[in-house]
Amino acid sequence: MLSAQSLSAQTRGDTRAVHAGRTDLRGLGVHVPPIDLSTTNPLPGVGTGGDSYEALATGGLIPEGGSAVYQRLWNPTTARFEEALAELEGAEAAVAFASGMAAISACLLAARAEGKGHVVAVRPLYGGTDHLLATGLLGTEVTWATAEEVDAAIRPDTGLVIVETPANPTLELVDLGALAARCGDVPLLVDNTFATPVLQQPIRHGATIVVHSATKYLGGHGDVLAGVVATSDAWAQKIRPVRAVTGGILHPLSAYLLHRGLQTLPLRVRHQSEGAGKLALWLSDQPSVERVYYPGLPDCDPLGLIGTQQSLPGSVLAFSLRDGFDAAARAAERCRLITHAVSLGGVDTLIQHPASLTHRPVAPEARPHPSLLRVSVGLEDVEDLYEDLAQALA
Ligand SMILES: Cc1ncc(COP(=O)(O)O)c(C=O)c1O
Repeated sequence: MLSAQSLSAQTRGDTRAVHAGRTDLRGLGVHVPPIDLSTTNPLPGVGTGGDSYEALATGGLIPEGGSAVYQRLWNPTTARFEEALAELEGAEAAVAFASGMAAISACLLAARAEGKGHVVAVRPLYGGTDHLLATGLLGTEVTWATAEEVDAAIRPDTGLVIVETPANPTLELVDLGALAARCGDVPLLVDNTFATPVLQQPIRHGATIVVHSATKYLGGHGDVLAGVVATSDAWAQKIRPVRAVTGGILHPLSAYLLHRGLQTLPLRVRHQSEGAGKLALWLSDQPSVERVYYPGLPDCDPLGLIGTQQSLPGSVLAFSLRDGFDAAARAAERCRLITHAVSLGGVDTLIQHPASLTHRPVAPEARPHPSLLRVSVGLEDVEDLYEDLAQALA
């Protein structure tokens, strides 16, 4: 859409992360993407302006010689990030939002607009997504199912099957190929926030829609709130009009930061995954720790999906403490180098108590155990993380 040409299909992942969405820059005489902050755009004429508005408001792209019209419909800086993310996910298109929840909401509304308001969802999910589905706030109805029960739960009005793998917060893995087969014609939506396209590309395993809380690894530095949907051209065309009328488009300054963040994504993700693997083993040896949840540990990957579906285990782990909630609360509060805070995927290590925070709105029967803590491992020297956790757990 923007680039003179997309990157060649043969380009390797690390190269794509650096160059995607930038292939036209040389021709423009610049080295980094320009930031366009215009909220409105000059119209070449009433006819071309109207045609542009019509195309963008109905999910299409700017016609030849047309105008971007208004930032809520389209923005070139945001579109660059979309193009880059779509290339990394192996998707035809991407649509960027002001938050991960705005992205998920738009997918639900797009399905519902077609009369498909029923959703089959596999728990665990991020607490905000679980809450949105459980309350039916957007007029959807949910059936909770295990990955094996999904086909039985599908109805004629099922518009989406929703899953996270690895799941927040207990890092369960779901076999996406097997799940996609159970979905039949119903689109499978995979929240790929934890894995990122560096470790896993769900579309290659049969997913129709991939969503990210781009707030996490894609931004990577804890300073951007954003979401993105990577999907087929047909679904992007359904999702863009929802974004246009509900006003959820990503701001171009945030899009610029995300696009920059993608360039170091593979390096960050691999290095953080290495640190998390060491920390998971270290935690497994601590007498106060009851259980460690990390896909790199053999008992957490019974289907053998690490190395096949997902290249590395990633950098989020969770662990439970033998002495229950009080011990977990104390440990989180005592961390010094590690920040006691929600969110994940940034360059610094965070710890939080899911049952009290990120998963607080989840129904009691599906809420994480009160003794569980979740850690997002950053880029620090892992020896410093051992020392901090050792004093916090003492
Ligand atoms: C897996 C997952 N999906 C979606 C979201 C929601 O994203 P955001 O906070 O960017 O709206 C989160 C937030 O933590 C998340 O962890």
